[in-house]
Amino acid sequence: MADTAKLTVGDQSIELPIVEGSEGERGLDIRKLRSEMGLITLDPGYANTGSCQSRITFIDGDKGILRYRGIPIEEVAENSTFLEVAYLLIYGTLPTRDQFKNFHASITYHTMIHEDFKRFFGALPKDAHPMAACSASVGALSTFYPDSLDPRDPRQVEVSVHRLIAKMITLAAYAYKHSIGQPFMYPANNRSYVANLLYMVFGTPCEEYIVDPVIERVIDMLLILHADHEQNCSTSAVRLVGSSMVNLFSSIAAGINALRGPSHGGANQEVINMLAAIRDEGMTARQFVERAKRGDPTARLMGFGHRVYKNFDPRMKIIKKGCFDVLGKLGVHSKLLEIAVELEEIAIKDDYFVERKLYPNVDFYSGVTYTAIGIPSNMFTAFFALGRLPGWIAQWMEMHHDPDFKIGRPRQIYTGPTLTHYVPIEER
Ligand code: CMC
Repeated sequence: MADTAKLTVGDQSIELPIVEGSEGERGLDIRKLRSEMGLITLDPGYANTGSCQSRITFIDGDKGILRYRGIPIEEVAENSTFLEVAYLLIYGTLPTRDQFKNFHASITYHTMIHEDFKRFFGALPKDAHPMAACSASVGALSTFYPDSLDPRDPRQVEVSVHRLIAKMITLAAYAYKHSIGQPFMYPANNRSYVANLLYMVFGTPCEEYIVDPVIERVIDMLLILHADHEQNCSTSAVRLVGSSMVNLFSSIAAGINALRGPSHGGANQEVINMLAAIRDEGMTARQFVERAKRGDPTARLMGFGHRVYKNFDPRMKIIKKGCFDVLGKLGVHSKLLEIAVELEEIAIKDDYFVERKLYPNVDFYSGVTYTAIGIPSNMFTAFFALGRLPGWIAQWMEMHHDPDFKIGRPRQIYTGPTLTHYVPIEER
C-alpha cells in the first residue's frame, strides 16, 4: 500500500506521508502542508484529526472494541483491580507482584491531605458542586507541593503521580462531606483503595462503617471501565494544558473541568435527572424519546450517542450486566432501571437513532448503578473523574516523552472584518 498521498491544489502538488498505527489505522501527516502549500486543515470538533500517536488505548468504534495497552476491556474488568489498571496504563505493563506491592504501598501512604484543606473546603459555598470543589482542590495541590512541579524531572513526576492518585479519593470525599455538612473522615489505610473511598464518603465518626464487598467490587469495576478512553475531550484538555509545560496538578484540574460538562462525563448525572423526571412527571418513555428526536440539543436522550462508538459501547454492556447483578445481590428494586431499559428498547429500534448510529453509552447505566448503591447523584461525575485519573496521567506522561512534543496550538480560518480603523467614541 502507498505510504504517501499526493494532494494537488491548482498547479501545486505535495506528497503527504501516510502514518500507520499497529492496528492498521491510517492517517495523513499534514505537518508540511502549510509551509509548502500555504494551507491548513479545518476540522471543527477535531472529529477527524489525530492529535498524537499513542500506545495507551485502542478503540475501534465500529466494532465496539476497547483495549488498555492491548488488553480487551472485558478481560480487564473481569480479572483486574482499579489500582492494577492504573499501573498498567501509567507504566505500560501489568505489574509483577513486587511492583504492585510497592505501588500499592506508595498510593496508600499518600492518601492523607494537608490539614489546611479543611479551611480550603470551608471557604467554598455549601452547595458547591463536588466536581468544582475537586478541580479547585486538585489545582490547589500545586500550592502545597511546590517540590514536585517540574514536568521533566522523573522523580518529581513520580511523586506527583502517586500523591494525586492517593489524595484524589480524599479530596473527592471531602468535597462531598462539605456539601452535606458532615465532618471530614481521615483516610483509613488498612482498607483497599475503593473501600477507603467509600469509608470517607459514607462513614461518620459516630458509627463503625462496614463496606459491603458487593458494592466495593462494583465501584472498582466502574472505575476500571472509566480509566482511559484515548483522546476524548477531558484527556485532550489535559494534554493541551500540559503542553504549556505546566505541572501535573494544574493539567489534571483542567481535565476535571472538561469532564464535568453534560456532553461528556456530566452526562451520568444528567441521565439520572432525566430518568427521575420521566418517573416524577408521569411522562412515558416513548414521549421522552419523541421529544429527544426534535433535534433540540438541550433535550437529548442523555446517555445516548458517542463520537467514536457507532455500533455499541463495550463499557455499557459490562455496566448494564453489573447493574443487574448488583441490584439482584442487594435485593434492590429500581424504578429508574425499569425506565432506562424501556427507553433503551424504544430508542435502539427507532429510525432516528438507528440512522444516526446512536446507542447507549457508558453513562446510560452507570448512574442507575450508583443510585442503587446509594451514591448521591452530584458525586457521579466525581467518581468518573476518579476512574479517569490514571488515563489522564498516562496520556500526560506519554506526551512529555513524545519526540514530537510541541505546545498545543491549533490554527483557525479567520472570518471576521478585514482591516478597519479605530473610530473615536464621540464619532460612533
Ligand atoms: N439524543 C438525541 N439526538 C442525538 C443525541 C442524543 N443523545 N446525540 C446525538 N444526536 C443527534 C444530533 O442531534 C445530530 O442529529 P442531526 O444529524 O439530525 O443534526 C446527530 O445525532 C449527530 O450528533 P452530534 O452532536 O453531531 O454528534 P457528536 O459526535 O458531535 O456528539 C455526543 C456526541 C456524545 C456529544 C452526543 O451524542 C450527545 O450529546 N449525547 C448525549 C450526552 C451524552 O450521553 N454524553 C456522554 C458521552 S459518552 C461518555 C463521555 O464521553 O464522557
